Amino acid sequence: MAEELIISNSLDKKERYQTLLSQIKALVEGEQDLIANLSNIAAALKQTMNFFWVGFYLVKDNQLVLGPFQGPIACTRINFGKGVCGTAWKLKSTVLVPDVEKFPGHIACNSASKSEIVLPAFKNNEVALVLDVDSDALDDFNTIDQQALEELMRIIENLL
Ligand code: SME
Repeated sequence: MAEELIISNSLDKKERYQTLLSQIKALVEGEQDLIANLSNIAAALKQTMNFFWVGFYLVKDNQLVLGPFQGPIACTRINFGKGVCGTAWKLKSTVLVPDVEKFPGHIACNSASKSEIVLPAFKNNEVALVLDVDSDALDDFNTIDQQALEELMRIIENLL
C-alpha cells in the first residue's frame, strides 16, 4: 500500500478526481476489511478534494448509521427517507443539493454546511451504504463531482 497520495496541485478538478480514483483502487487492493477501506477512502477524499465533511453512512437494521468520515462530528443515525442521505437511500439514486436550506427535511449536522451531494452504493440491488459530501460553499458540486463520485461508488461496490 502506498503511504502517500501523489496529487499535483496544478490539476483541474476532473484530473484531480481521475488521479485520486486510480490511487484509491491501489489503496484498497489486498485489504478485505470494509471499515479499513472506507476509512482510507474518506481520508483520501478529504486530503485531495479538501471537502468540509466527507463520510459514509451504512445501512444497519433499517437505519443509516454513521461510518468512517473526515470532518466535524455528525449525526449518528438517519431514518429511511429522512434528510438528503435518507432520500438518496429511498430513491436509490444520487441526490445533489445546491442549497441545503431549500431541501425540505435537510438534516443540519453542522450549520456551516451549505451544499451537499449524496451517492448510494448497492449490494444485491439494495442500498448498502451512502457517501455524503458537504461543502461550506453554496452550489459547490456539479456533474464532474457526480460522475467521479459515482465511479468511486462502483469501486466501493466491489468491496462489499
Ligand atoms: N445533511 C445530511 C445529514 C448528514 S451530515 O450532513 C454529515 C442529510 O440531510 O441527510
